[in-house]
Amino acid sequence: MSSVRVNWQLKAILPVGFVLLAGLLLFILATVSLRDPDRHAVLIVAGAGAVAICAVSMLMLAFLVQRPMVELQEKIGLVSDGNLDVRVSFSRRNDEIGDLGRKFNYMMQQLRESREEIDRLHRTQMSRAEHLATLGEMATGLAHEIRNPLAGIAGVIEIVGRDLPSTSPARAVIKDVRLEIAQINRIVTDLLETARPHPPQIRLSNLNTTVEHAVMLARQQVLSKPIKIELHKAPDLPEVEHDSDQIHQVLLNLLLNAVQAVTGAGTVNVEIGSQDGFASVAVSDTGRGISSEHLSNIFRPFYTTKGNGTGLGLSLARRIVEEHHGRIEVNSVVAKGSKFTVLLPFQTPSSQTAAF
Ligand SMILES: Nc1ncnc2c1ncn2[C@@H]1O[C@H](COP(=O)(O)OP(=O)(O)O)[C@@H](O)[C@H]1O
Ligand SMILES: [Mg+2]
Repeated sequence: MSSVRVNWQLKAILPVGFVLLAGLLLFILATVSLRDPDRHAVLIVAGAGAVAICAVSMLMLAFLVQRPMVELQEKIGLVSDGNLDVRVSFSRRNDEIGDLGRKFNYMMQQLRESREEIDRLHRTQMSRAEHLATLGEMATGLAHEIRNPLAGIAGVIEIVGRDLPSTSPARAVIKDVRLEIAQINRIVTDLLETARPHPPQIRLSNLNTTVEHAVMLARQQVLSKPIKIELHKAPDLPEVEHDSDQIHQVLLNLLLNAVQAVTGAGTVNVEIGSQDGFASVAVSDTGRGISSEHLSNIFRPFYTTKGNGTGLGLSLARRIVEEHHGRIEVNSVVAKGSKFTVLLPFQTPSSQTAAF
């Protein structure tokens, strides 16, 4: 439905014209009824007056309204072409049109500031992304460079250790060196995993099985410690779309963190279930807990409070879970323990669309 477009000048002049016409008609009626002989001259003067009034009001309206409107239209055209450096000249007027001008100029000022802020953020993000990409490349290169000589050193140490007499005090040193080599190897492996992401191979499979494998592996690591790892499976849980190797790695990282947080005897509880339409795996420990100021940092790469930590476990875990379109939630109370919950959608969005 399109309504007839009437020019504003016409709209503004119509009431004036009607008033004048009505006056003129009244005047004609009055003169005709009075049978005035000079009525022709009066009519001409009245008509000319009416035309003059119309012309003057048109000019005034054009000056007061049309010029600012045309300017506003031009400026809006410039804005839509991407130029935010515009302002209108009629903002000093002390009327509604002036108000409009001031509001327009204020709006432009706000837009300019927002765009500057967006540009600034964009520049920071870009340089950070470049920085990270370069760091990632460097780290991967370095990791490869370290790995080969490290394997050589490990081999030599092994041979030297074997040849030493069992009473030699150097045996203890050799043992320390072996442990240090294992630590460097762990850092390098984690670093390579973090810097060289590979997309998850998502398949529909049993989450209970994936979790069980991780728990079994973690139990091997705590055989010598008074720590119990309890697993509560959810036998009725529908199958979950996930990359079982990657989720296995996530849970192992969480389990090892949980175990490392416990000093002395303690329990790590693993519970599989569902929450808010997601499949969930909660790993809780009775360890030292995390204070609120540390909590915001724990997912940052290289953030660690452990002497032999790499600080890459949780950042890697979060990335994997997010690639599964899930999330990790943390609840922690200092000196009581922590609970890390992995939430995974039963179906990842990419496979939902593929099904259609
Ligand atoms: N279950 C937990 N209890 C207490 N602190 C934890 C727990 N899990 C993680 N953290 C904290 O988060 C930090 C980062 O963990 P992570 O990324 O796995 O690196 P790393 O284990 O190598 O230190 C740890 O150093 C520790 O301070
Ligand atoms: Mg860890």
